[in-house]
Amino acid sequence: MLRVGIITASDKGSQGQRVDLSGAVLKDLVKEIDGEAVLYTIVPDDQEILAQTMKKWVDVDGLDLILTTGGTGFSPRDVTPEATLSIADRMVPGIAEVMRYESYKITPKAMLSRAVAVLRKKTLIINMPGSPKAVKECWVALVPALPHGIQILK
Ligand code: MTE
Repeated sequence: MLRVGIITASDKGSQGQRVDLSGAVLKDLVKEIDGEAVLYTIVPDDQEILAQTMKKWVDVDGLDLILTTGGTGFSPRDVTPEATLSIADRMVPGIAEVMRYESYKITPKAMLSRAVAVLRKKTLIINMPGSPKAVKECWVALVPALPHGIQILK
């Protein structure tokens, strides 16, 4: 079983003003790779809070995979990629490239996601866009290579 953490970045969601559909979708999707969402949180679009959450889930909890959803666009409050890069050891450009490539076939707006994927210690961290639709579309692109990538990290 893979131990997965899901972080939803959403100002409105963290204030209880919006139901977190994307986080719920991800909790379900990770079962396809024999994953279990052992940690889940919804936080405001705040770089420091996002970075500290990811850091703890790697350094203390030692998760295999962290998926974030939201905060990858152009709004001034969209800082998930910056938070992710601030705690990264190594970059995994191909993952975000493939998500954008496959998503672009569905919508040209896919190019507006600034999502990144990185490694910190033995944890893979992947940013995904915020809508449930986008999460599902990006997931399909990831599934074929994700288990192998996580396996060779150990
Ligand atoms: N990717 C997929 N597969 N499907 C989508 O509908 N929406 C795009 C893009 N990526 C989308 C997508 C849009 S409209 C934006 S603004 C960016 O993701 C950033 O979204 P975020 O700010 O919610 O992270």
